[in-house]
Amino acid sequence: MQTLIAGQVMTFDGDPFRDGPEAVRIDSHGAVLVENGRIAAVGPRERLAREAPQAQIIDHGEALISPGFVDAHVHYPQTAIIASWGKRLIDWLNSYTFPEEMRFSDPAYARRIAERYFDLTLSNGTTTVCSYATIHPESVDAFFEAAEARSLRALTGKVCMDRNAPDGLRDTPQSAYDDSKRLLEKWHGRGRLSYVITPRFSPTSTPEQLHMVGQLWKEHPDCLMQTHLSEQTDEIDWVKALHPQARDYLDTYETQGLLGERAIYGHAIHLTARERSRLLEVGASLVHCPTSNTFIGSGLFDMAGLKAEGQLVGLATDTGGGSSFSMLRTMAAAYEVGQLRHAPTHPAALWWLATAGSAEALHLGDRIGAIRVGMEADMIAVDLSSTPAIAQRSARAETVWEQIFATVMMGDDRAIRAVYVAGKPIS
Ligand code: GUN
Ligand code: ZN
Repeated sequence: MQTLIAGQVMTFDGDPFRDGPEAVRIDSHGAVLVENGRIAAVGPRERLAREAPQAQIIDHGEALISPGFVDAHVHYPQTAIIASWGKRLIDWLNSYTFPEEMRFSDPAYARRIAERYFDLTLSNGTTTVCSYATIHPESVDAFFEAAEARSLRALTGKVCMDRNAPDGLRDTPQSAYDDSKRLLEKWHGRGRLSYVITPRFSPTSTPEQLHMVGQLWKEHPDCLMQTHLSEQTDEIDWVKALHPQARDYLDTYETQGLLGERAIYGHAIHLTARERSRLLEVGASLVHCPTSNTFIGSGLFDMAGLKAEGQLVGLATDTGGGSSFSMLRTMAAAYEVGQLRHAPTHPAALWWLATAGSAEALHLGDRIGAIRVGMEADMIAVDLSSTPAIAQRSARAETVWEQIFATVMMGDDRAIRAVYVAGKPIS
């Protein structure tokens, strides 16, 4: 069974930060032929319709046909505490996050939030997320079961924390290793699911725990490893006090075997020159979480500088430290942060970051994040005139990027007209 999805199709020829905005192309009369969950052909609508006369045609008119959004850093267990007022990182964790994460010892609660989380992200056009779970193995099961039921490509891992967290929310070096290993063996590579080794961050792990988790990663080098790095200056001072022998924050991971090509570091705002050069040398990924970085008051990520030096960067909501489930809103925040740094990002580069850039940061760029033959058919149709405010601005636009930029800055879930997961429309 073939489906021909028609609209203004977005494809990528390269990285727009490196190759310029022309690397992102829009075919105003394009189409994507989907067969068995994958992209079988991409090209002009008339030609594909002729070449695949049996295909069912779904015509999205002037809507943009884009890869589904890829959210490279989220905390699905924080869904219910998004938009919690008035705290900076450490107080925010203690006041809002840890009490909520405690509730995930109840598998029924974990399942309920996982279902709610995927309903929210899919309605926002996000087809893949890389999430932190909680310390509870049940929270990983709940996430993967909900993702599997929806045929999603999805990633998560059990959070490891053995200090500076409340009773009921701490594991040990050994139990973190054992539980992570068991979950990894159960879920990693099952269908479209990937297990991610997940020490929360240096303040909540002893060096012994970081070391054991590093050992686990060494035994399973095909897994990604995710953690947080240099998000707030107070946090960095705390890391220095907890790890007095470390050269810098990254070193607390590096010395325990938690630095490598498949490492994903969330935030990475206040980096030293040594950290930047080590990250580049090993080819690790950094994830920009702009709504979170402004909401929690963390700082301004150096997108232009980091991309110019060749770092691998993804984009993420970081819900619920981030204040939105929408990757459109997240692109807008990335633009605003760029403006505050006197380095505005072109909408082509913002859109690329939210799709191919995040997929590449997660080492999934050969499967998702782009409309290309052979890729998994996770796609969205985006209405570029979804509200009266956007429609009137869009009508004034002289170029397609001017039109798209109105949706980047003002769009939300109302712009997402259709979502295809492995080629199938979801309602
Ligand atoms: N650092 C450690 N844990 C967290 C978290 O849950 N959210 C954010 N934004 N930063 C963190
Ligand atoms: Zn985070």
